[in-house]
Amino acid sequence: MKRSRINEIIREGDAFIRSFGYVMPPFAYWSPDELATRRPPGVIDARLGWDITDYGEEKFDELGLFLFTVRNGRAADLAAGRGMLYAEKIMISRKDQLSPMHRHVVKAEDIINRGGGTLVLELFMPAADGGIDRDAPVEVPTDGVMRRLDAGGRLKLAPGESVTLLPGVWHAFWGEGGDVLIGEVSTVNDDLTDNIFAEPIGRFSNIEEDEPPLHLLVSDYDRFVGRTG
Ligand SMILES: [Fe+2]
Repeated sequence: MKRSRINEIIREGDAFIRSFGYVMPPFAYWSPDELATRRPPGVIDARLGWDITDYGEEKFDELGLFLFTVRNGRAADLAAGRGMLYAEKIMISRKDQLSPMHRHVVKAEDIINRGGGTLVLELFMPAADGGIDRDAPVEVPTDGVMRRLDAGGRLKLAPGESVTLLPGVWHAFWGEGGDVLIGEVSTVNDDLTDNIFAEPIGRFSNIEEDEPPLHLLVSDYDRFVGRTG
């Protein structure tokens, strides 16, 4: 993806998010230089921030996702069973823009329709080897109520509705009828290791630097900011 397109998506996404009354934290608006100079470990090491992905496939409108990680705990705390065990993201799935089928090994996540169109999730249970079980019915909690679907069934969430996806449950999702503002409340998030995709695909965009970055993406941190410690 061209950096100019990523900058444009950041501007559009920021306006969309604000239109629902949600405002991102101050570090979201720091310039690349300010972030590289201040380099707070609480942002850089926790990998908070902007994450615009086309999964490396160069067709963002059909296959992509806007994410911003607002908070993220520590894997050591999760292992210890106490402390900062949680994470939060705000995301945008555009109309008919697919986030491809994947599962998580560690992360449990609530996916919440915060407003806009209908959020559609295609769901499968994991087979014994972790792969997709194409036969088993799917049962998932939705705002305290269990919902049962056929394998590969489509769960439709209207604004206000959410689903809890436990580790292992396969999911793909997209917006229907309009762009969707999505909240994610989860256990500690590690996008470097905890996304298993059904098809071989990348997690981050390959970027062509045709103009300076408006804000750094999380996937820019290693290159532009380096280590904090
Ligand atoms: Fe997920």
